[in-house]
Amino acid sequence: MAKPGTFSCSACGASFSKWSGRCDACGEWNTISEDAPLSSGPASKSLGTKRGRPITLTDLSANEAPPPRTGSGMAELDRVLGGGLVPASAILVGGDPGIGKSTLLLQAAARFARAGLKTFYVSGEEASTQIRMRAQRLGLADAPVKLAAATSLRDILTTLEAESPDLVIIDSIQTVWADNVDSVPGSVSQVRAAAHELTTFAKRKGASVIMVGHVTKDGQIAGPRVVEHMVDTVLYFEGERGHQFRILRSVKNRFGPADEIGVFEMTGGGLAEVANPSELFLSGRGDPAPGSVVFAGIEGTRPVLVEMQALVAPSPHSQARRAVVGWDGARLAMVLAVLEARCGIPFAGLDVYLNVAGGIKISEPAADLAVAAALLSAREDSSLPSETVIFGEISLSGALRPVGQTENRLKEARKLGFTSAILPSGGKSGGNGGVSLTRMSDLTAFVGEVFGAG
Ligand code: TYD
Ligand code: MG
Repeated sequence: MAKPGTFSCSACGASFSKWSGRCDACGEWNTISEDAPLSSGPASKSLGTKRGRPITLTDLSANEAPPPRTGSGMAELDRVLGGGLVPASAILVGGDPGIGKSTLLLQAAARFARAGLKTFYVSGEEASTQIRMRAQRLGLADAPVKLAAATSLRDILTTLEAESPDLVIIDSIQTVWADNVDSVPGSVSQVRAAAHELTTFAKRKGASVIMVGHVTKDGQIAGPRVVEHMVDTVLYFEGERGHQFRILRSVKNRFGPADEIGVFEMTGGGLAEVANPSELFLSGRGDPAPGSVVFAGIEGTRPVLVEMQALVAPSPHSQARRAVVGWDGARLAMVLAVLEARCGIPFAGLDVYLNVAGGIKISEPAADLAVAAALLSAREDSSLPSETVIFGEISLSGALRPVGQTENRLKEARKLGFTSAILPSGGKSGGNGGVSLTRMSDLTAFVGEVFGAG
């Protein structure tokens, strides 16, 4: 049984010594439950005086070969994994229900199985017939993937030990149930125990284990912040329900770069790779309209052009609304404050809506200037030239700060037919990528130049 005094929040993972209805750390209600130990037995007793074995210490200089990787042949997936699947690794794939995790992993399983990995797909959410039907629809029925519908951790591990697969997909970690842990499936203790056992299995047997994790309404993998620490790689599968675009993003990767993205499109025949995301994100763009600005961003190692859309309208409410989709609300507040304080352009009494088109989430500060431009364009009801891209970070003083990878951004812009760019002065000078550049050092100058005000 759990020691008295260990409770944790399933939303943020914070620990407490006693139960309460609301988590003090994140403010969520009804998320605190009692922990159970990872395994019953003497694990939680003190170490006592018995000596352990000495551990072996080695030099840093050992000539270590890079881990052998297996590619799936889906370039978008392999890049996010850091160049393919690494043996003895644990991967967590998080995402909203219905976003396409099972579809993606079934397609990946088929690819990896065809590439020669002994692949198991264990589902606790769907019956095997359902998965077989999906595989048939996706044209994957002939792939040598072994299917099982199971939820008992003990049964799953026993089977894995006996069969020694190269790749195991667990869909989802919330449905796996450890009988030595005294709480309901999906609770923090259960998820933690299952993830711990499966990760240990991966390390011990040299297998790759991919676990699906559902996310809570505020975007965290349910329960396990803790699980994120245990696994080698954390990927999020994101997208807006109404859009067909899906983005697989690495937020942690011990075997490759984090922040890499892979872009997919949900079609009737499953997920299709999108080799040129900028083209897709800009495809719905009409004639130049007030409030629309194209931002030249970098996601992972790749330049991505996206449209920032703003709408500014007099507010009927006593407190004006600020609504953001695809960007950070705090960052929007900052840009509005700088526009007001440094350029004398007030937004008080105005509702402000900001949307990143295409359902992609942007987190780069380099988007500041594009957001400011979209807000001003919407407020002044004047559109910017449609062949211009904008990027740059805004500091609280109103100065524009140069951002990285300028040349890559410009090259991508050129490739998509843009002829001019507005960006901060300074920074590393590189090629202009065939685009005419307007460099500015502060936001006031930008406002004056582009909108003839300020
Ligand atoms: P699914 O992979 O089951 O999502 P998750 O495992 O993340 O909950 O995907 C469900 C959605 O994907 C469902 O609404 C239907 C859609 N879909 C397609 O549009 N095309 C397809 O080929 C498949 C298999 C699913
Ligand atoms: Mg699913």
